[in-house]
Amino acid sequence: MLSIEVALEDRSYPVFIGNGLLAQASQWRQFLPGGKVLVVSNETVAPLYLEGLCNALKDLSVQSVVLEDGESAKTVSNWSAIIDRLIEMKAGRDVCLIALGGGVVGDICGFAAASYMRGVPFIQAPTTLLAQVDASVGGKTAVNHLRGKNLIGAFHQPRAVLIDTDTLDTLPAREFRAGLAEVVKYGAIRDLEFFHWLEAKVSRIVERDTEVIVSLIERSVRNKAQVVAEDELESGIRAHLNFGHTFGHALETITAYSRLLHGEAVSIGMVVAARLSESRGLCAPGVANRLSKLLEELGLPSALPGGTSTDAIVEAMALDKKTQAGQTGLVLLEALGSAIIDTGSSPEHIRSALAQCR
Ligand code: NAD
Ligand code: GLY
Repeated sequence: MLSIEVALEDRSYPVFIGNGLLAQASQWRQFLPGGKVLVVSNETVAPLYLEGLCNALKDLSVQSVVLEDGESAKTVSNWSAIIDRLIEMKAGRDVCLIALGGGVVGDICGFAAASYMRGVPFIQAPTTLLAQVDASVGGKTAVNHLRGKNLIGAFHQPRAVLIDTDTLDTLPAREFRAGLAEVVKYGAIRDLEFFHWLEAKVSRIVERDTEVIVSLIERSVRNKAQVVAEDELESGIRAHLNFGHTFGHALETITAYSRLLHGEAVSIGMVVAARLSESRGLCAPGVANRLSKLLEELGLPSALPGGTSTDAIVEAMALDKKTQAGQTGLVLLEALGSAIIDTGSSPEHIRSALAQCR
C-alpha cells in the first residue's frame, strides 16, 4: 500500500492507494473514533462494494444512504435527504461520513459533511478512475443548481482518501478512459516527465495493466496533492487544473450532459486549448498534435462532436464565465508540461481554435 500526504497543516490527510483496502478494517479504524458512520453511495456501486465495507466496520453503528446513479443525483434534495438521515441518527460532530462511489457521490457526500453542524469529518472512498486521480483529493464539494453545475458548494477536506484499486475491475471501459483525460492533464500542465511516461506506456494502460495503473494513480495523486497544498482555495496555481475544462464545460452544456462524459469533454477541451495556445504563439507548434495523439491512443476524443455549433460553444463559454464569478482567463500552455493563465484570447482566436478541431 502507498500513502501520499496532502499537506495542509491541521487539515493534512493521507491518500492510501492499494488493493483490497475497502474491506480492511484496520485501514478505517484510525479515522473513525466516534461510533457513528453514514456511508453515502449509489445504486450501481452499493451492490458491488457496500457489504464488504460494512463488514469491515461491523462493530460500529453504520447506516447508509443509496442515491440514484448519475450526475442528476447531485441535487439539493438528495443533499437534504443525507442531512435528514444524519438528524434521524442523532449524529453529533463525532459522526463520520464515507463517500463510496465516483465523483458524484464524493461531491454530494462531501458537501453534506461540510454543511452538517457546520462541518463534520468524512472519508473519500473513490471507485472511478476520475475520482481516484482527481475528485476525491482537494476538498472541493458541491451539488448542482438548475442554473449550473457545482454552484452550491464548499471547500471541506476529507480526513483520508482510501483508493482501493480493485474497484476499477468493475468500472466500465468508457468510464475508465474518461478518467485518463484527467491523468493526461497533469502531464500537460505541470509534469512533462509523466507525459513522456504515459506516451511510453500507452499499450499497457489500454490493457489496464495493474502495475501501470497503480503507478499512474500514484503520480496523478502526487501532482494533485502538491497543487492543493500550494493553493487550497484556488487563488492561483490550482486554477491550472481547469485546463481544458472551460471548453469542456461548454461542450457538456450544449450537448445537455447526455453525449459526452466529463473526461471526454475535457479531452476535447484540452486539445482546443492547446491549438489556441499554438495559434496565439504562446507555445511552439506541435504541442497540440502530440497531446491529441496521446489522447487518441488512449481511446479519448480529440475533435469536436459533429453537429456542435461554434456559436453555441462560444455563447456557453461566455455564460459559464458570468456564472462562475471571478473566473478570468483561460488555462493555456506555454509548453508541454507548463500551463499559464491567459486573458488575451479574443472570440476570434477561440473560433479559429475551435475550427481547427473539427
Ligand atoms: P460518476 O460518479 O457519475 O461515476 C461514473 C459512473 O461509474 C456512474 O454510473 C457510477 O455509478 C459508476 N461507477 C462508479 N464506480 C464504479 C465501479 N467501481 N464499478 C462500476 N461502476 C462504477 O462520475 P465520475 O466521473 O466519477 O465523477 C464525475 C463527477 O465528479 C462530476 O459531478 C464532477 O463535477 C465531479 N468532479 C469533482 C471534482 C472535485 O474536485 N470535487 C473533480 C472532478 C470532477
Ligand atoms: N478538479 C479541479 C480541482 O480540484 O481544483
